[in-house]
Amino acid sequence: MARYLGLAMALASHGAFAVLTPELVWSAPQRGVATPNPTGDLAIFSVSEYSFENQSTSAAWQLLDLKTGKISDAGLSAAEVNEIAWIPGTETGILYINATNEKVPGGVTLWIGDIKKPSESKLVASLEAPFSGLKVAKTSTGDLHFLVNSLAYQNGTAFNPELAPKPRHTGRLYENIYPRHWDRWLTKERYAVFGGRLLVNSSYSLAQPGVRNFLQGVEFNITRPESPVQPFGGSDDYDISADGKLFAFLSKAPHLNKAEFTASYIYVGPFDGSQVAKAINGPSSEADAAGHKGASGLPTFSPDSCKLAFIQQDGDYYESDRWQLYVVDISKGADGVTTSNYKPLTAKWDRWVAAIKWAPRGESIYVAAEDYAINRIFNIPTSADGDFVPKNQTSVTSVAGFYVLPDSSLLVSATAVWSTRDFYTLRNGTQKVLFSSTKVDQQLAGLGPHTYSEIFFTGSAGLEQKLHALVVKPSNFVANKTYPLAYIIHGGPQSAHLNAWSNRWNYQIWADQGYIVVAPNPTGSTGFGQQLIDAIQGDWGGAPYEDLVLGWEYVKENLPFVDTDNGIAAGASFGGFMTNWIQGHDLGRKFKALVTHDGISQTLASYATDELWFMRHDFNGTIYESLDVYERWNPMNHVANWSTPQFIIHNTLDYRLPESDGLSLFNILQSKGVPSRFLNFPDEHHQMRTPENGRFWYEEVFNWVNHWSKGVPLDKEAIGE
Ligand SMILES: *[C@@H]1O[C@H](CO)[C@@H](O)[C@H](O)[C@H]1NC(C)=O
Ligand SMILES: *[C@@H]1O[C@H](CO)[C@@H](O)[C@H](O)[C@H]1NC(C)=O
Ligand SMILES: *[C@@H]1O[C@H](CO)[C@@H](O)[C@H](O)[C@H]1NC(C)=O
Ligand SMILES: *[C@@H]1O[C@H](CO)[C@@H](O)[C@H](O)[C@H]1NC(C)=O
Ligand SMILES: *[C@@H]1O[C@H](CO)[C@@H](O)[C@H](O)[C@H]1NC(C)=O
Ligand SMILES: *[C@@H]1O[C@H](CO)[C@@H](O)[C@H](O)[C@H]1NC(C)=O
Ligand SMILES: *[C@@H]1O[C@H](CO)[C@@H](O)[C@H](O)[C@H]1NC(C)=O
Ligand SMILES: *[C@@H]1O[C@H](CO)[C@@H](O)[C@H](O)[C@H]1NC(C)=O
Ligand SMILES: *[C@@H]1O[C@H](CO)[C@@H](O)[C@H](O)[C@H]1NC(C)=O
Ligand SMILES: *[C@@H]1O[C@H](CO)[C@@H](O)[C@H](O)[C@H]1NC(C)=O
Repeated sequence: MARYLGLAMALASHGAFAVLTPELVWSAPQRGVATPNPTGDLAIFSVSEYSFENQSTSAAWQLLDLKTGKISDAGLSAAEVNEIAWIPGTETGILYINATNEKVPGGVTLWIGDIKKPSESKLVASLEAPFSGLKVAKTSTGDLHFLVNSLAYQNGTAFNPELAPKPRHTGRLYENIYPRHWDRWLTKERYAVFGGRLLVNSSYSLAQPGVRNFLQGVEFNITRPESPVQPFGGSDDYDISADGKLFAFLSKAPHLNKAEFTASYIYVGPFDGSQVAKAINGPSSEADAAGHKGASGLPTFSPDSCKLAFIQQDGDYYESDRWQLYVVDISKGADGVTTSNYKPLTAKWDRWVAAIKWAPRGESIYVAAEDYAINRIFNIPTSADGDFVPKNQTSVTSVAGFYVLPDSSLLVSATAVWSTRDFYTLRNGTQKVLFSSTKVDQQLAGLGPHTYSEIFFTGSAGLEQKLHALVVKPSNFVANKTYPLAYIIHGGPQSAHLNAWSNRWNYQIWADQGYIVVAPNPTGSTGFGQQLIDAIQGDWGGAPYEDLVLGWEYVKENLPFVDTDNGIAAGASFGGFMTNWIQGHDLGRKFKALVTHDGISQTLASYATDELWFMRHDFNGTIYESLDVYERWNPMNHVANWSTPQFIIHNTLDYRLPESDGLSLFNILQSKGVPSRFLNFPDEHHQMRTPENGRFWYEEVFNWVNHWSKGVPLDKEAIGE
């Protein structure tokens, strides 16, 4: 403990500039996306903050005044209230999920109230399981129709783990591919979307027979329908129409196994339950005929309830194919819900649509998309023809979430390398900043865009476009000094270094250890067009590695303030694979130390992962069809050259990539006498989640790189002898 406090005090006394530390990153307030009320003058968001002093997290609901930017407490305890939804057609009416249920242990309750008088809220429904993901619509009669989700038994009843009988043994028996995913082993229960009605004529009591499982009855022969799609899906995976008459949800293809295929469909059904939900883009649909073989997402009804927008990928078992925007007309007639007029809106736009928000009168759709290392907002008229290419509306910072206000202006929640959260409105191209964490949070004092820049360099693949990299300097950067390089390689591989905040791989925190961070976006990176993404297929250690060599050479030749002789390289996931690949190749000899977090060391073991479609696509086939490609890009084949000191982190709950990859890497390095350390967190998955673990991760990684790059003594924390 003294070690950390000492560091914090040394910083506090410095004054002139602030330096970002592990404590500061992990104790900075974390704010959610601001959700505006129906009239667009107020927004609500959550905030939580970890205290290292008290070893506890405090959380709150706060209100943002969209005219003044004033922030106030919402008067609802975050310990008691899990979620809050605005009630359409009111100014400040709310429906919220209370985390407790006095009648049913492990259940929750629904409460209705007014954010101006939160203490007068009334309990309206008892829900018998830990439901979440509340969405609400107001019908023409004034009833409230809502959607929530929960795990459910095979018979459709919501699953309440607190009431479930305790099994007599711990055995888990499987008979098909996909026994576990991300950080959990599959059980017989699956997530399902449930709908309920609160009746205006009886004080919003829950109509009989309570909540209804909208996935019940959907036919399948291989994969039982599940929504939200696990483990990352949430309420974005389903929607209720504004008139409360229809629902839509996402589920994986029922006739394909979940491990080898990405295919998923949007299902639509009537809220009154008179018809079982049907896939609108499944087999023998218009979408199918047009070549849709991949995943779907973001079902979003138009304000007039007559259209549904969603995204789709075409490619079979290709999770990084282009996400395009589609719209269909929806109508509910005597023969149930039907769709027509299926229309792609972004067929010629070489970007991934990643969020959907309708304009208030349904004339256009605002979407978010990565574009040149920034997550930006674009606008697409629903009348757009196939050649339409939208223009970006935002710049500099990255959009984390946004809403369209009644006057068509946007309320944006954003982040940047220097900010955990900015809230701003965008009205006819004019940005009005309502809040910026960097101005308010003492943990972020002194951060700003002054340390951040970008470089472009020529890549290996012969593409016309140059490759992009972020460059982040230390807060106390002095122009006539040099700083060792921290070369940070992103995961994916189909993802990107963005101008966005991260607690886990925070660029500024690395820079403030006295490095120049260069974070390249090589072949495989997203946001620069599909060609660069697709080019990594079957070539993991090829073009991306050559790009990284060229990026390194560019830095050496063009950035005089970077000391490449004492640099280090680090990466997680695919970035970990690449660090291990670098260890076996010439670039590995250019670094004083390497850091691998949860990275592949042995591609022949890659079928121990969960999402097998990923290797199947990226290595040009299954391991039995395409063994030579798995073999070609195996870091283990270059073990003879492993010689650079390496720090390895591998977490036990990482089912994306089992810890045996980190262990064999470490054991081989140890056996060869290459300096190395192994850090394992038994309670973390592919990514670090908790502040105490997160701080220890940074302290030990920095101790390692500072030792090999700058001669700082190694600490005595490691278990040895
Ligand atoms: C720790 O808890 C004490 C007592 O409740 C409180 O006064 C203090 O503000 C807390 N510290 C932090 C950093 O939250
Ligand atoms: C939540 O429910 C509990 C009872 O289970 C009640 O005591 C508490 O006041 C409720 N809180 C809110 C904010 O509704
Ligand atoms: C569904 O199965 C669970 C667990 O076996 C059981 O507790 C519940 O009563 C069943 N529900 C119905 C409607 O049969
Ligand atoms: C309340 O409205 C529902 C339909 O929304 C109707 O079935 C019910 O009879 C009404 N109850 C009363 C007391 O009016
Ligand atoms: C499952 O259903 C699909 C059509 O929906 C069919 O093509 C396939 O053969 C079926 N698979 C099995 C194993 O029954
Ligand atoms: C859109 O992106 C371009 C390229 O990054 C930038 O120059 C322009 O300022 C952006 N437009 C807006 C409205 O921010
Ligand atoms: C934006 O500008 C247009 C044309 O100048 C105007 O008609 C519209 O009202 C403006 N919208 C907002 C939200 O200010
Ligand atoms: C570096 O620059 C600072 C001012 O930025 C100056 O005080 C110092 O003398 C310079 N050092 C060298 C070695 O040029
Ligand atoms: C993998 O497939 C891609 C796309 O079809 C092709 O360009 C590439 O050459 C293939 N690579 C290997 C190693 O088979
Ligand atoms: C080790 O590196 C040398 C020098 O680049 C290279 O010639 C050799 O092929 C490498 N060996 C392996 C097993 O990768």
